[in-house]
Amino acid sequence: MRMVDVIEKKRDGYELTDEEIRFFVKGYTDGSIPDYQASALAMAIVWRGMGKREIATLTDAMEHSGETIDLSGIKGIKVDKHSTGGVGDKTSLALGPLVAACGAKLAKMSGRGLGHTGGTLDKMESVPGTSVAIDEKRFVRQVNEIGLAIIGQTSEIDPADKKLYALRDVTGTVESIPLIASSIMSKKLASGADTILLDVKFGSGAFMKTIEEAKKLAETMVDIGDSLGRDTRAIITDMDEPLGLAVGNSLEVKEAIATLHGEGPRDFVELVTEAGAIMLEQAKIAKTHEEGVALIRKAIADGSGFEKQKELFAAQGGDVSYLEHPEKFKMAKRILPIRAERHGYVSRIDSLAIGVSAMKLGAGRATMNDLIDMSSGIILGKKVGDKVEKGDVVATAYTNKEGIDGVLKDIHDAFELSKSEVAVRPIVHAYIRK
Ligand code: URA
Repeated sequence: MRMVDVIEKKRDGYELTDEEIRFFVKGYTDGSIPDYQASALAMAIVWRGMGKREIATLTDAMEHSGETIDLSGIKGIKVDKHSTGGVGDKTSLALGPLVAACGAKLAKMSGRGLGHTGGTLDKMESVPGTSVAIDEKRFVRQVNEIGLAIIGQTSEIDPADKKLYALRDVTGTVESIPLIASSIMSKKLASGADTILLDVKFGSGAFMKTIEEAKKLAETMVDIGDSLGRDTRAIITDMDEPLGLAVGNSLEVKEAIATLHGEGPRDFVELVTEAGAIMLEQAKIAKTHEEGVALIRKAIADGSGFEKQKELFAAQGGDVSYLEHPEKFKMAKRILPIRAERHGYVSRIDSLAIGVSAMKLGAGRATMNDLIDMSSGIILGKKVGDKVEKGDVVATAYTNKEGIDGVLKDIHDAFELSKSEVAVRPIVHAYIRK
């Protein structure tokens, strides 16, 4: 088989056979197919798309391009969740402890932040001592003992995706539903869980800009998971403003702690409750969604979610006194309020602008080798629907950097104000399952 024939076939709009797709994934992973041919095929897929069978085969080939994690040593149903990435997304740090406190088993592999999106691993490491580099044996033991572990993905998992995603990033071929769906699902399937809940975000700052695109991506991923025998469901959630109030590593950890004390921001609490209820149904701990919601609320109210969060960090070497006394987290040297220049109602907060600004304040990486300043970031003072008077603080910037006047202006400009009242929107816009 020749790679050039496979590229031309897709370029001309034909379906690839399973053999052709597997030939590509195997050859690209072992280096016999060069980057330039892989990027040509990726671009042909961007333009021509793929059918259901092609996407399922691409996912399966990528999942098996390296090692897969064996979670059979963990008793019970193993649940997993994945977010397509957003700004202020600290969900796993509150949701993980809550579902584990209710008896679910969550063996989670997470990623690091890049560009305007943060990563769960970086946020965890803002608690001094925390390790996310845990071998498979200890990972399985920890989930059996406390119901929960959050670690970094090992390099042996899904090497095809690692190479292909890096290539797509620099060849303008990220935005393709077949490529995004197979990339996400191949990693999730290789991580071994029985059930998967996908949080597909839409809006500024998300891969999918519209709710329609987000639904299409979610349906594609639910189809893949379902065809491979895993209970896969998806929620479609709003990223037309950052999630919660905090953006930046230790700031977000503090918000996750406050949420487990019953003091979380409305949208974040709603997301964690809805997602948690679905995961408890998937784990067969809750018979109905309402029962799941009640269990999650109880785990917040009785403090068992917070106790589980402490167990999680303690098991991974973290200094739990930071969770008990969040004032111990190091503060940024400069704390700068950003004020509204006119009155109105907040109608939108550009998540992408807030995410990029937080990165420039020191909270994120522009390239994978950059160092993160855990204490920097942004706390929103207002959310969509809030009334704003001239001079009100709409956000506060936390940074150790000088010369950031342009960033402060960008944060200010991220707030869109309307003259008339704006309705508060729900965070979860749709629920997709088979
Ligand atoms: N996240 C992934 O893991 N892969 C993509 O292609 C896009 C987002």
